[in-house]
Amino acid sequence: MGKIANKYFVTDPYKIIENGFDITQNQKSESIFSLGNEYMGIRGFFEEGINAPSLVGTYFNGVYEWNKEAVNSHYKGIIKRGHHMVNSCNFLYTRIVCDDENLDLAHIDFNSFTRVLDLKTGLLTREFVWTTLKNSFKIKIKFERIVSNENVYHTYQKITFEALNFSAKISVLCGLDPTILHWGKYNDWTVIKSSALNNILYTRNATSQTIATTFSLEINNSYSAKSVKIGKIIAKEITLDLEKNIESSITKHIINIVSKDESISSKDVIRLLSKSLRKEQSKKLSFENILSSNTEFYDNLWKYSDITIEGDPENQQGIRFCIFNLAQCYHGYSENDNIGAKGLTGEAYSGHAFWDTETYCLPYYLFNDPKAAKNLLLFRYHTLDMAKKRAIEVDCKGACYPIATLNGYESCDLWQHALTQIQPTTGVAYAIDHYVKVTNDISFIKEYGLEMLIEIARFLASRGDYNSKGNYYGYYGVMGPDEFQLMVNHDTYTNYMAKQCLGILFFYLEYIKNEDLESYNKTISLTALTEDEIKQFKDIYEKMYIIYDPKTLLYEQHMGYYDLPHIDIDKIPRSEFPLYSSWSYDRIYRNDMIKQPSVLMLMFLYNSNFSVAQIKANYDFYEPRTIHESSLSPSIHSILASQVGYMDEALKFFSFSTRLDLDDYNNNTLEGLHMTSIVAAWVNIVYGFGGLRSDNVSLKLAPTIPSNWTKYSFNIQYLNAHIKITVTAKKIVIESDRDIEEGIVIYKYLRDIKKGGNVFERE
Ligand code: BGC
Repeated sequence: MGKIANKYFVTDPYKIIENGFDITQNQKSESIFSLGNEYMGIRGFFEEGINAPSLVGTYFNGVYEWNKEAVNSHYKGIIKRGHHMVNSCNFLYTRIVCDDENLDLAHIDFNSFTRVLDLKTGLLTREFVWTTLKNSFKIKIKFERIVSNENVYHTYQKITFEALNFSAKISVLCGLDPTILHWGKYNDWTVIKSSALNNILYTRNATSQTIATTFSLEINNSYSAKSVKIGKIIAKEITLDLEKNIESSITKHIINIVSKDESISSKDVIRLLSKSLRKEQSKKLSFENILSSNTEFYDNLWKYSDITIEGDPENQQGIRFCIFNLAQCYHGYSENDNIGAKGLTGEAYSGHAFWDTETYCLPYYLFNDPKAAKNLLLFRYHTLDMAKKRAIEVDCKGACYPIATLNGYESCDLWQHALTQIQPTTGVAYAIDHYVKVTNDISFIKEYGLEMLIEIARFLASRGDYNSKGNYYGYYGVMGPDEFQLMVNHDTYTNYMAKQCLGILFFYLEYIKNEDLESYNKTISLTALTEDEIKQFKDIYEKMYIIYDPKTLLYEQHMGYYDLPHIDIDKIPRSEFPLYSSWSYDRIYRNDMIKQPSVLMLMFLYNSNFSVAQIKANYDFYEPRTIHESSLSPSIHSILASQVGYMDEALKFFSFSTRLDLDDYNNNTLEGLHMTSIVAAWVNIVYGFGGLRSDNVSLKLAPTIPSNWTKYSFNIQYLNAHIKITVTAKKIVIESDRDIEEGIVIYKYLRDIKKGGNVFERE
């Protein structure tokens, strides 16, 4: 893998610190210092502007545009137009002039620069001292920014000035700029109402979603102000009288409310949103009380979701950065939100959510915030109709979930992925079962899950084929998680997962029928499921083809994989990575090189179905063939390496996982944070070193400890208990705030877990 750390930030347990400003790192820092609250995200750009590469990005979850370019295809099943999360109004817009000089860190003379993101409050602070050219005025400036987690429409920005060696005037423009370009190319926002006098701006995008933005200012010193309009930008121009050694501050309180309903007319939406704005304004919030409610929010996060690592300060900071960003990106605020591959921190991956949500992200929420986990599943329930529509488009029945989406509809215009990858659909069924196994929330199955499982089974039955020669079923022309193998047959991951999905359906059909016949009948009649269909599903289940050799214990990745020409991946020069930029796609496809785990992914998801000997055999075979071109890959290898006792390998694959973005291992943090690798870091520690397994009826823990750690701990929520697991070289201490009657398997044996501390020997 040979990734190299690009160290830039200071190591600290609860802070991300930038000491001194390196302009070449500007866009990376913008991603790292992003703030968010699931409802919206703001990159850490300099609000006063900078004449240097910068992505001024503010995004709202679920606010999107259709792509400009339609896909020029007459082929059935290929989507006609994709969609992407769209950059919105820059509501932190600021311009500062003093002593006839514009404040622009690319050009001015400044020193003592520090920027700090406090992971205990979500407060972002930036300070420096500016020396003007003409009269050598020295001004200490502090910018603060906070996004409320409790009142998600509210953001505060505070700018504090202190004149160190002079008294004079400073001019500050504070406003709203709706002219930001998406992908640096276009802006489709129409201003439907704007008032510089009242600081109000309504913008509507091409998909007819509307954002109402307003702001108010609080200024603690003598000043004069006037309303200005610069093109579409509205602002207040403040002239502050700076007195030597006296602090002056401007606090800007911004409220953003989005209407995502595309069917409301401009007139009605203005009426609706202005009512909501008035309601929010009447809340009388302040910078201080947002700071204190955020402190409470993050106190709770650190109390119930923290991971502590003794003896490894870099990973300690790294994992807290990950957990903090998971909370910023998604915490179950809305059942219509999802988790984009870059969260709300950039435009790469178009803001889309992938199968990553169900397979990588869900476990974090399951064990930290089960309500948020449920909401992620409800996103799939609310978009079931679109998945059904999509199934028809691809000549199938039931529900075909998208490989990449924001609004529930398929947005991937690459037929190789959108038509042949079935793992988003199997991932949803897997996640439903995973959620219910961990939470016992049977009502979810009754109200939503069973309906989804039936439609998923229908899709799987119609997309699969029966081979009469071999008397087996399976999938032809698919691409499994290893995206380097296109149009393969009997991909083990796909066949196995599909079989499991059918098994999950049979289990819950039986369970609900016995437990609540009325609810069972309701769902059967809603979905019009017939006995013949169930019979067909059972036949497919029985005859699903899984290529396995009991002698070698190997699962062949897909039919014909062993025949592929072998490539020694260690001989590929580093300069040729990422391969998709330097190798043509057909060259990538025609050998046995693997992009990311496929058979091994299966062995992670259904871990308890495989023996350690099987996992070891398959790890030994597939690991040397895997190039980890996806950042989702190393964590799964690390987890399985821990399980089979390859601790050095486990550590090697873990080595950059918590700091992938902080240390910019992939040289692309500037595009936004890798949200799914961020969650994979949590999965890596908890399932890897902690040995958590949640795919069976009983929860299991089998902790190991990396040699350079003296102690670590992680938290999980399980069956309404908050549990803290602390691991040292010799002991495991499980502290629970209630008895867990079901017990937990520790290594091999089911153990009682009592309220208070439970101590076990480490094996
Ligand atoms: C991976 C996919 C993943 C996507 C988004 C791709 O590089 O191959 O498995 O869903 O990134 O994270």
